[in-house]
Amino acid sequence: MVLTRAACICLVGLLLAMTWPAWAKVSGPCVNCHTMHNSQAGSPMAYTVSSGVTTYTSTPNKGLLNTDCVGCHQGSNSGGPVPYVLDVSQPTYGATGTEGDTLAGGNFYWVSQGNDRAGHNVAGLAGSDVAHGNLPPGSTDSAPLSQLTCAGTYGCHGASTEIDATVALLGSHHANDMTAWNDGSTVAKSYRFLDGVQGLEDSDYEYRPTSSAHNKYYGADRTGETESSGTISSHCGRCHNDFHNGVGEISEGVFSNNVWLRHPTDFDMSNAAGSEYAAYNDYQGVGTPYSVISPVATADTTTTLNQAVYQQADDAIVMCLSCHRAHGSPYDGILRWNYKNWPCENEGTDCFNGCAICHTTKD
Ligand code: HEC
Ligand code: HEC
Ligand code: HEC
Ligand code: HEC
Ligand code: HEC
Repeated sequence: MVLTRAACICLVGLLLAMTWPAWAKVSGPCVNCHTMHNSQAGSPMAYTVSSGVTTYTSTPNKGLLNTDCVGCHQGSNSGGPVPYVLDVSQPTYGATGTEGDTLAGGNFYWVSQGNDRAGHNVAGLAGSDVAHGNLPPGSTDSAPLSQLTCAGTYGCHGASTEIDATVALLGSHHANDMTAWNDGSTVAKSYRFLDGVQGLEDSDYEYRPTSSAHNKYYGADRTGETESSGTISSHCGRCHNDFHNGVGEISEGVFSNNVWLRHPTDFDMSNAAGSEYAAYNDYQGVGTPYSVISPVATADTTTTLNQAVYQQADDAIVMCLSCHRAHGSPYDGILRWNYKNWPCENEGTDCFNGCAICHTTKD
């Protein structure tokens, strides 16, 4: 059968549409990802990828895997089923990281190129951070961690009780369900395999997100400076303790005074005294749609997407990710926008005042 070009494009479109719902857990032939003996015709099958170069190794990987976290999660995004978090060439980020090729966590590209302030310095992607070493700012630990890893005790994903990254995740890739609310009860049922964190996952990991297609982050409207569990901000607080909770660290002991010592997180904006927060993301005069530039968390644990704020109690919660990306961005402090470059001549191209999404009278 001879297919015309138009028919081909149509077919490809149809195939993509048909495979879309399967973007929930790993699928496909086992051989794509696993090797039974790390040997085929006497040659090793296990490999690592560094700066785009594949190296085969006779040391088998745990879980009978062909490769490691970086080996599978390195590449360029085009909205496809595998979330790529490290690009080998510079991805498009733009002013706010919402219209280019990076995902919700941003991208490790810039920190991998030696800009320590532009990302988490994860082992295998970058050396230790020169300024911070391995000690998280805000940490209450006296001794620094080992260098960060993707997962496990020294990492962010998976069970923090396991040292090894693969062991920390074991059982989650095949049990992932992006259509359900993650209640944090297991690693597989945790938001993006962040153990204990709740949330609802966007099916394409926020590739070019909009107010009607994005992650739903879980937050809590705390009444004090103490820990709240299960929130995305408490996850960051596991290492950056004092930036999230601790008596005398966040407010002067009493949250309700709204006298802050550090920027509030896990705090609902409807508690705020000033009126400027009522106009959250209203700069285009179209109500208060959810902003993918400076998102907020919600206490709502249903699978209904929060497309606007102030629709119900505690749906406008400030979180670490209102200002930061988790993996990396082109900007200092892993910020979502170029904080230090504002004001500038071409707002929206060279800079963006993301703070003004909430501080609407400070633009
Ligand atoms: C797209 C990649 C991919 C494919 C295809 C794949 N796996 Fe896996 N599998 C993984 C990863 C990654 C892990 C380790 C991390 C984890 O468990 O989350 C894993 C772990 C496992 C585990 C141990 C954990 C568990 O969930 O029980 C088993 C068993 C397993 N795979 C079997 C299979 C079989 C059988 C097939 C084919 C039907 C298959 N896998 C296809 C990626 C894949
Ligand atoms: C063999 C390839 C392979 C390996 C190795 C692998 N992943 Fe994945 N990973 C995938 C694929 C494919 C998906 C998309 C399907 C899915 O969500 O399970 C994915 C999805 C994910 C997600 C998104 C989960 C969600 O809830 O949406 C995270 C987080 C993740 N991987 C982390 C890791 C970490 C950390 C490691 C190393 C311990 C790792 N992966 C190793 C292939 C792999
Ligand atoms: C497992 C511990 C751990 C977790 C969890 C963690 N961090 Fe970090 N973070 C570190 C360490 C260690 C450093 C210092 C070294 C570096 O920059 O990689 C750091 C550095 C940073 C920096 C400064 C980067 C720089 O070099 O100037 C920011 C910003 C940051 N983290 C934000 C976050 C946010 C937001 C979260 C939650 C999404 C988070 N971190 C979760 C350990 C962690
Ligand atoms: C309102 C926006 C905003 C929120 C919310 C926010 N940050 Fe930041 N963060 C910043 C800015 C801006 C900087 C860099 C400049 C500065 O320090 O003022 C920064 C810097 C950092 C640094 C680097 C400090 C250093 O010594 O270099 C870390 C770590 C960090 N933030 C972690 C967090 C964590 C964890 C949370 C949540 C508990 C959080 N941030 C919430 C805006 C924010
Ligand atoms: C997601 C919404 C949000 C974003 C984004 C945000 N803020 Fe805030 N900010 C708040 C809220 C809410 C308060 C607490 C106000 C209150 O208690 O009255 C606050 C408090 C503050 C305060 C203390 C004011 C006081 O009342 O004591 C400063 C200063 C501040 N923010 C600066 C910034 C800067 C600079 C940025 C950008 C890097 C930023 N904020 C981004 C919501 C936000």
